Amino acid sequence: MEMCGVGALILAAGKGTRMKGRIPKVLQPLLGEPMLFYVLEAVQKAGIQRVGVVVGHGGDQVALYLREHYPDVAVIWQEEQLGTGHAVQVARPWWSSLDSLLVLCGDTPLVKPALFETFIKTVTQESVASGLVSFTAQDPGGYGRVFCEDNALFVVEHKDATPEQRCCAEVNSGIYFFQSSCLDEALGSLTTANAQGEYYLPDVIGWCSRKGLGARAFFWDSEEDMLGINDPLQLAQAGEIMRRRILERCMLEQGLKCVDMNSLWIGPRVTFGEDVFLDGDVRIFGESSLGGGCTVGKGCIISHSHVGEECRLNPYVVLEESVLEKRAILGPFAYVRGGARIGEEAFVGKFVEIKKSSIGAKSKVPHLSYVGDASVGENTNIGAGCITCNYDGREKHATSIGGNCFIGSDTMLVAPVTVGDNAVTAAGSIITGDIPAGALGIARARQRNIEGWHQRKALQKPKEES
Ligand code: UD1
Ligand code: MG
Repeated sequence: MEMCGVGALILAAGKGTRMKGRIPKVLQPLLGEPMLFYVLEAVQKAGIQRVGVVVGHGGDQVALYLREHYPDVAVIWQEEQLGTGHAVQVARPWWSSLDSLLVLCGDTPLVKPALFETFIKTVTQESVASGLVSFTAQDPGGYGRVFCEDNALFVVEHKDATPEQRCCAEVNSGIYFFQSSCLDEALGSLTTANAQGEYYLPDVIGWCSRKGLGARAFFWDSEEDMLGINDPLQLAQAGEIMRRRILERCMLEQGLKCVDMNSLWIGPRVTFGEDVFLDGDVRIFGESSLGGGCTVGKGCIISHSHVGEECRLNPYVVLEESVLEKRAILGPFAYVRGGARIGEEAFVGKFVEIKKSSIGAKSKVPHLSYVGDASVGENTNIGAGCITCNYDGREKHATSIGGNCFIGSDTMLVAPVTVGDNAVTAAGSIITGDIPAGALGIARARQRNIEGWHQRKALQKPKEES
C-alpha cells in the first residue's frame, strides 16, 4: 500500500536514562541492528515514504546512522527536550507540507506494518482530525491512561492520574495520527501545567475531541507489539521476541531448517535459499545471505557475508564481510574475514585464518595457516602451517600465488612476493624473492647429519657438581 501525503515522525530525542548506556537508546542493538532500524522498516513496509526522526540526546550518532543507512530520512533537531508535544512542534517545518502525520516513538521496535496500515485506514475513513493507538497493559504503570467520557476522548499521564484513574488498564501506545491542518493550532494550545512540566503530545487528542474535530482511540489487541524499551531487561525481552519472529519467518517463508530453535540468532536482513540447514548455536547477522543447500555447523558466527549454494561450514567457523562461492568448504575452526573471497569448491580447513584474500576455485588451505592480503589462483595447495608474512611492522604487503602451485608445509612467504603458476616451494622455506612459473623455490639450510651422535654423548663424563 502506498500512502500519499502521509508522513511518519519518529520521536527519538529523549535521554533513555534507565538504559544506563553510552550508546543512544534508539541505537542499542537487537540482533545486530539498532532498535531504530526496526521502527523505520515497519514504517516503510507500511508504504510511508516520507519519514523524519526527531533527535536530541546522542543526536550526532543517530544522525550519522541515518545519513549512512537511510539518507532519505529527515533528521530534525530538538535541542531542548520539553516534551513529546514540543518534539512535534519543532518538526513543524518538516511536516507542514504533508496532509497528515503518523507519530511514533523510536523505542518500540516490535511494532508491525499491519498496525500502521489498519490504523491509518480507520482514521482516514472516519475523517477524524486525530487518533491514537491504545492497548490493554498487564501493568499499566507509567503509561498514559485513555478515557472516553461524555463522547470526549482524552489521555491522563500516570503522574497526573488520580488513584481511581490509575486503575484504568487501557493505555496510550504513543502512536498517533493527525491531520496536519489542525495540528499547528492544537500544538499551540498545549501548556506545561502538569506534573512533569512538559508539553504533552497526548493533550492534542483531548483538544481535538473537545473542539469537535474528531479523535479516535484505535484499540490494538497485542501488548507484545507495543513493548517500549526503557531498560536493558526490556531490550533483552524484545530481542527474544524478535529472534523468534525472524526465525519463524525464515523457516516458513524461506524453508530454513534447524535442529534447535532456541539457540539460533538471525538478524532481520539475512536471507536463505531453500533447504539451508543450521546446527545449534549459530549466529548470522547483518547483510548476509546463504544459498540453497548450505549447511552450517554448530557454533558458527556469520556477519555481512554471502555464502553461495551448497557450501559447507563445519563447526566453529567465523565468517565476516566475506564471500564464499558455491560448494566451498570451511572449518572446523576457520576464521575468514575482511573481504575474503573463497572460490568454488575451495577448501579452507582447520585453524586457518584468511584475511582480505582471494582463494581460487578448488584450491586448498587445509591446516594451520595464515593467508592475508594475498591472491591465490585455482587448484593450488597450501601445505600445513604456511604464513604470508604480510606486515613489516609498519605496512601491509601483498602476496600473489598462481594457479596449480604446491606451497610446501611451513613455508613463510615474506611479502611483497609473487609465486608464478605451477611453482613449488620446498617445505620449511622462507621465501623472500619471487619464484618464476614452474620453478621450485627452496630457501632453507641444507641438512647435515653427524654420525654416532648418541654414542658420543654417552661417553661424555657427567660434569661434577661444584
Ligand atoms: C509517552 C506518553 C504516554 C504513553 C507512552 C507510551 C506523553 C506525555 N506521554 O509517555 O501517554 O503511554 O509514551 O510509551 O507523551 N521524546 C522526544 N522529545 C521530548 C520528549 C520525549 O523526542 O522532548 C521522545 C522520547 O525519546 C521517546 C518518546 O518521545 O522516544 C516518548 O517520550 P517519553 O518521555 O518516554 O514518554 P513516556 O513517559 O513514555
Ligand atoms: Mg517512554
